[in-house]
Amino acid sequence: MAKIAVLGYGVVGSGTVEVFYKNKENLEKKAGEPLDIKYILDVRDFPDSPYSDKFVKDFDVILNDPEVSVVSEVIGGIKPAYDFVKSSLEAGKSVVTSNKELVASKGAELLKIAKEKNVNFFFEASVGGGIPIIRPIHTCLEANQIDDIAGILNGTTNFILTKMIRDGMGFDEALKIAQELGYAERNPTADVEGIDACRKICILASLVFGKHVYPDSVHTEGITKVTLEDVEYIDSYDSKIKLIGCAQRHGDEILIGVFPAVIRNESQLAGVSDVFNAILVHGDATGDVVFYGKGAGKLPTASAVVSDIVSAVKHRGTSRSLTWNDSDQSFVRPFDEFVCANYIRVSSNDVKTAKNTVVKLFGEKTEFLSSKKQPENELAFITEARSEKEIKELCGKLSADASVLGRIRVLDY
Ligand code: HSE
Repeated sequence: MAKIAVLGYGVVGSGTVEVFYKNKENLEKKAGEPLDIKYILDVRDFPDSPYSDKFVKDFDVILNDPEVSVVSEVIGGIKPAYDFVKSSLEAGKSVVTSNKELVASKGAELLKIAKEKNVNFFFEASVGGGIPIIRPIHTCLEANQIDDIAGILNGTTNFILTKMIRDGMGFDEALKIAQELGYAERNPTADVEGIDACRKICILASLVFGKHVYPDSVHTEGITKVTLEDVEYIDSYDSKIKLIGCAQRHGDEILIGVFPAVIRNESQLAGVSDVFNAILVHGDATGDVVFYGKGAGKLPTASAVVSDIVSAVKHRGTSRSLTWNDSDQSFVRPFDEFVCANYIRVSSNDVKTAKNTVVKLFGEKTEFLSSKKQPENELAFITEARSEKEIKELCGKLSADASVLGRIRVLDY
């Protein structure tokens, strides 16, 4: 019999308990032995819960109980989750977690402890909610060198952008609905400023490149500067705006970033709407493989947590190869070297002169866009592909004739 402890009874924690008991019989068959949740840790009281006898408030009860072999951390954040996870691993318990902040900032350290203690540290739920992505990249795509990953990794922002694109809904209203539906983080800044997506691309990049990529090394922008005007111009370009996290291999180095991007409608990523996530992985043998599903929400995320619990039981007493090493970040190239076309929107008192300057600076192939509500003093255009450094310099030169109102990178996935 394997005894499990669930740390945290919020959205994902309560979903984990629900999925566990709903499918318990099946899970036991897959695990090859009886399973039960012995403890649920939460500071709050749940007297009416059918599991009220399992609640504890003191983590040491779990830590000091030798019967507990798997700890499921679904509290989120660093404090106290990091201490709980670290001491569980040190005590020889396997840990599964949905906590992307923890894995992105402490993954290398925790994986090292798991290896030393010959236990598992699994985190399938930390990226893509219910989408299987960590284990498929690690095992099913093992034969490949992965050259490129690009993903819509945050359900909340994809939901907001979808509402803006489809319904012309304002940002605040769309965010409120996402929060009510339980998609958003406790502090939605992490969603809308791209921090959550950054943590997720760090986890994927660390897994693929075998070296820890820390969030501080990643150029990160959110969606708060995207306007309904941008949405309209981009629509006329047969494209959609999506928050993308991407990591590209360049020899032994990588280029990595999170930012809103213009994606052509023919791309598989453009059709990913609402809370859905999609992750495009380019392998040197497979070409593009796309993983798609619900990237947030109680039961999809719980599905990944519970699957990890079963894996941890099945592989008890082993330390799996799903791991990476710490790194000094020298393999992460400066984001200024990132090359792509750009959508730029400017205003000018002399649009004719500004248009000539745009062509002179950004090249003959610059494509001008139009929108129904386009003000007379405004221009929007798509540049030729240039490095980030060059685009910034060119925008600086353009400022003599026009003010840059917005810029969104154009990606070719
Ligand atoms: N806030 C996250 C999102 C939850 O919206 O994607 C899942 O990680």
